[in-house]
Amino acid sequence: MTVLVTGAAGFIGHHVALALLDAGEQVVGLDNLNDYYDPGLKRARCVRLAGRAGYRFVEADIADRDAMAVLFAAEPGITRIVHLAAQAGVRHSMVDPYVYVQANVLGHVTLLEAARRLERLRHLVFASSSSVYGLNDSLPFREADRTDRPNSLYAATKRSGELISHAYGHLYGIPQTALRFFTVYGPWGRPDMAYYGFARAITEGRPVTLYEGEGLSRDFTFIDDVVDGVLRVLDLPPDPAAERVRILNLGNRCSERVSRMVELLEQALERRAEIRMVPRPAADLMATWASVDAAQALSGWLPRVALDVGIPRFVSWFRAYHGIA
Ligand SMILES: NC(=O)c1ccc[n+]([C@@H]2O[C@H](COP(=O)([O-])OP(=O)(O)OC[C@H]3O[C@@H](n4cnc5c(N)ncnc54)[C@H](O)[C@@H]3O)[C@@H](O)[C@H]2O)c1
Repeated sequence: MTVLVTGAAGFIGHHVALALLDAGEQVVGLDNLNDYYDPGLKRARCVRLAGRAGYRFVEADIADRDAMAVLFAAEPGITRIVHLAAQAGVRHSMVDPYVYVQANVLGHVTLLEAARRLERLRHLVFASSSSVYGLNDSLPFREADRTDRPNSLYAATKRSGELISHAYGHLYGIPQTALRFFTVYGPWGRPDMAYYGFARAITEGRPVTLYEGEGLSRDFTFIDDVVDGVLRVLDLPPDPAAERVRILNLGNRCSERVSRMVELLEQALERRAEIRMVPRPAADLMATWASVDAAQALSGWLPRVALDVGIPRFVSWFRAYHGIA
């Protein structure tokens, strides 16, 4: 029995693949190693996986029909899929909108088309995002809240993935769960995300750019909690006749001011940040905050790592990886 992890060279994907291998699973990792951010970091994550027994890596694009057909023909033992490959990043979707449609819409369809032919597929778990709540302003965000008012193309493509999966659940009975992740952070994280960029800026003596407005806040979720949630849910496929696609928030149940995150970085890095305020881009939400009652009721999952514990853990990895004394 094999688990396919797409986006296995990515931040969340490589942690999930490592945890699956630790649990004794056979894992096929897939990634196209694109250069949206430093491919050197993606390759370093691959190195952590490469030597592990039970791991195979395929460099391929999820939107490449032929490559996906070849992969699925070669791996008929795939029983579960954790689909994390995507073009991430809210603001970049204003810079290069087409790559979001390619990876998050066409790629999602291509994966589902290949998956529906797998005879032994028991569960497909895929990454959605808190960004789908868009212009919703009732906090905390609950799975039943409106998601028809996205404020970025990234959010629109993530919601599209959920809707496409609903259709495939209805038509082909594929058991699927969409996990709406809330600002995931931690060691081996993504350099395009604010916490990582701020750590770099503070270290290099450059200003940290914050958005104007006192209330800007995020539900920051530590990577270990997310991995725990993914693995628990993976073992609990829904009945597609009852739920075409199950949707669960995975967040820290706590909306923290972004300025608090900067304070914690300053403490851990032992350096002061120079703050520069700029207007908030229209694509960024004012606040995110997850209700996780549904994930807890299903799987017993609850987040355990508070921001003041998680940020120092990120910083100690950041220092070691970048060779900062
Ligand atoms: N990190 C977060 O805070 C967060 C929040 C909400 C949702 N998500 C979602 O979680 C998933 C994983 O995010 P992450 O933070 O690990 O991002 P990441 O960018 O580190 O990982 C995604 C990986 O997918 C790969 N990829 C992109 N397009 C591909 C394609 N067409 N074919 C094959 N591989 C491709 C990339 O090379 C990358 O390694 C994504 O779907 C993302 O949208 C992440």
